Amino acid sequence: NKIVLAYSGGLDTSVAIKWLQEKYDAEIITYTADLGQQGLNKKELKEKALATGASQVIIEDLKSEFINEYVFPALQVGAVYEGKYPMATALARPLIAKKMVAAAEAVGADAVAHGCTGKGNDQVRFETAFAALNPELEVIAPLRDWGFTTRDTEIEYAKKHDIPVKATSSSPYSIDENIWGISVECGQLEDPWLEPPSDAYQWTNDIENTPDKAIYLTLGFKSGVPVTLNGQTLKPIELVEKLNKIGANYGVGRIDMVENRLVGIKSREIYEAPAASILMQAHQDLSALVLQRETMHFKETLMPKYSETVYYGLWFSELRQAMQSFFNSFKDKINGEVKIKLYKGQAKVVGRKSNNSLYDNGLATYDKSDSFDHDAAAGFIKLWSLPLKTAGKAKNSTGED
Ligand code: ARG
Ligand code: SIN
Repeated sequence: NKIVLAYSGGLDTSVAIKWLQEKYDAEIITYTADLGQQGLNKKELKEKALATGASQVIIEDLKSEFINEYVFPALQVGAVYEGKYPMATALARPLIAKKMVAAAEAVGADAVAHGCTGKGNDQVRFETAFAALNPELEVIAPLRDWGFTTRDTEIEYAKKHDIPVKATSSSPYSIDENIWGISVECGQLEDPWLEPPSDAYQWTNDIENTPDKAIYLTLGFKSGVPVTLNGQTLKPIELVEKLNKIGANYGVGRIDMVENRLVGIKSREIYEAPAASILMQAHQDLSALVLQRETMHFKETLMPKYSETVYYGLWFSELRQAMQSFFNSFKDKINGEVKIKLYKGQAKVVGRKSNNSLYDNGLATYDKSDSFDHDAAAGFIKLWSLPLKTAGKAKNSTGED
């Protein structure tokens, strides 16, 4: 029998190769997604997996699919969980799971395995996706099942089985990284009162070290998706990577929060997502220019529900897809340009324009070219205030509420 294991090359998933082999007497095929995580060395990763006992190593570049099919759909919504977290980790899990299912089917595996702990969201996201996409596959979660209670017993097991353990990986943090953002937890971050130590931030400059001069960016959107930066047409990957770099230099996109995990735990997490922060503000601002008022307001009511649905691992659900269809129905109107100013940790929209703009200067202006019907306003207010007037009169005549 064969097991496809989600593999990062770290201690947990390396130990998992051996542990699964021993426990299930199975061939282990490792699966690694390249989602733009910066430290990924494919050659080293492959050698390490094989040296640890994997029979086959699959590494796939999913950056483009991730951006187009997961990140940009979430951008249409402006999706942030609990008002803050742009969900880089949460958006990546369903894609990795989907590709693992495809790999399992291709190699004829009967099980898939992941290295998530039993306390987190990621286990849920992987397993809901497996269930949706191939309910026949057995799912194994070694970190939930094995008996290692401390890192030391795990390292002992690794040494006993000649699993290469990097002595240098002494970072106190648990980190998950992709092109849409980086998630950092554990270490000193577990005290929600402590300011995150500077070394917890992996991408972004401390405000104290950011440039003293502001920088302006112009982003061009077509059908809801960013296509140009400062007039230059860029592929989605390049555009997002560039925004991450520029934004990081200005300290943009740092998030420090206590969040509610699906499994009931509150956890303190920090995130860095410069491109997400810039793009979401730009997209939102352009939407405000081109969408009708009621569409704009209704979309705002859906955002928290959509984000919760994705965070809870329900990417492949009917509801997520139905909500996506709503956002897709007006996506084509979101064209134009947005001017953004970056300075000292902030990205602010300072200008916007569009061929689809609903901004009517004749209606908005306070100068002579005003075309707004002032008399109509008086009649409108008369009817709008009628219910309150009626209630006010009733109160006066009875002296009661
Ligand atoms: N709390 C975040 C989420 O649920 C980030 C999880 C980070 N995952 C990790 N393996 N370090 O999406
Ligand atoms: C984990 O526990 O595996 C990582 C954190 C999370 O999934 O929320």
